[in-house]
Amino acid sequence: MAKPLLSNMSGRIRQGLIYADGVVGRPPAVPTDWPSLDRAARHKLSRRAYAYVAGGAGLEGTVRADRAAFDRWELSPRVLRDVSVRDSGVEIFGRRIPSPILLAPVGALGLVRRGADVEVATAAAALGVPYIFSNQASQSMEDCAAVMGDAPRWFQLYWSTSDELVASLVKRAAVAKCEAIVVTLDTTMLGWRPRDLNLGHLPFAFGEGLAQYTSDPVFASIVASRPDGPTTRPMLRDLPAALRALGAISHRHPGRFLDNLRSSVPRASVQTFLEVYSRPSLTWENLALLRELTSLPVVLKGVLHPDDARRAVDEGIDGLIVSTHGGRQVDGARGSLDCLPDVVAAVDGRIPVLMDSGVRSGADIAKAIALGARAVCVGRPYVYGLGLAGARGVSEVVQNLAAEFDLTMGLCGLTAPAQFGRHSLVEARRQRDRRPSRRTR
Ligand code: FNR
Repeated sequence: MAKPLLSNMSGRIRQGLIYADGVVGRPPAVPTDWPSLDRAARHKLSRRAYAYVAGGAGLEGTVRADRAAFDRWELSPRVLRDVSVRDSGVEIFGRRIPSPILLAPVGALGLVRRGADVEVATAAAALGVPYIFSNQASQSMEDCAAVMGDAPRWFQLYWSTSDELVASLVKRAAVAKCEAIVVTLDTTMLGWRPRDLNLGHLPFAFGEGLAQYTSDPVFASIVASRPDGPTTRPMLRDLPAALRALGAISHRHPGRFLDNLRSSVPRASVQTFLEVYSRPSLTWENLALLRELTSLPVVLKGVLHPDDARRAVDEGIDGLIVSTHGGRQVDGARGSLDCLPDVVAAVDGRIPVLMDSGVRSGADIAKAIALGARAVCVGRPYVYGLGLAGARGVSEVVQNLAAEFDLTMGLCGLTAPAQFGRHSLVEARRQRDRRPSRRTR
């Protein structure tokens, strides 16, 4: 495969290409800043798709907290240092990646665009940015891996009620050349998400986001062993809606649409998924099984507390992702970036710590790195790029983030991510001033 695009693309080159296109009347495929990207996606995506992607848990306090955490820090640029040669690359699990950015696992992407996951995989592979396949993907990991050559990818696992299904997914991930298993721990149950609840819309109930399951032999055997027809009764209450749902489910299930319409398997698959996909009883003891199933690095996603981080290191876990799941699980929780320093301190350099939730710019990436993250994962921004312009949109969003990070790094007087540290940051004045002084307290 050709050299990854990002390894040749400094921030200046990216900037130059955008301005050169502008001279011949070609605007960028997607807006280059988050507020414009969000606005454009809100207009383009269906109501249900935008609600699903943008939404957070409850009053969306955690979505706001994730952003506010970035505003609490200011970068402290230094001048007159030779920053003409820079390298944004970082190493994770022995693999060098061109920029400290990974694509977060995002489920039900088919809501946003047909063929979505393969488009994301195509863009990620060309860039050289690792793509974390979601357990809730709309296309299978094998279909995505098929367009990625040797480009880096990881697999994200939801621990279902069936250990056999877990084993099968992990085995498939290794065959698909995934380089790490990410176990998401913050979603043993779905958070309370009013934007979706108000529309009565759960993508999975319409067969969206089930591709890793419907392509799995163990899942197929669980479906085959269930008594038939449990979904028909509630559906008959509203015939047009039931027919629409049946059409959607049959369309998304593998195989021919008409065959699926006649078969009970697609509906039974949805019902089975809803019964098996999460395991609220999950504990550290279950995780030990993973070690028997795979020699790949195991990464825990959704760790926010330093005690959990310490325990993870003790249990032999290989990496952590500090994450609030984009504020979609616990409303009123502490912002992800606020949790990062304590987790980094607890881990004490023994395993890499990544973070996500609320990363919206190159400056955000710089702040996360300065607080100890090895790299960040990005979610909604690339999903909006996908919705606006397919693989090209994903690619441009990531190129823009990487370019802005590279320029921010150089303009701070640094030439590599490892040079960022607490010395690169000051606490924002607004926050300091808001704190009551001793006299007024
Ligand atoms: C997610 N996220 C997620 N995480 C995961 O482990 N498995 C999944 O299937 C999904 N699905 C998913 C769908 C949608 C629509 C969103 C927005 C998010 C969480 C995701 O991996 C990541 O933690 C957040 O998206 C990061 O926050 P930002 O960048 O979206 O703010």
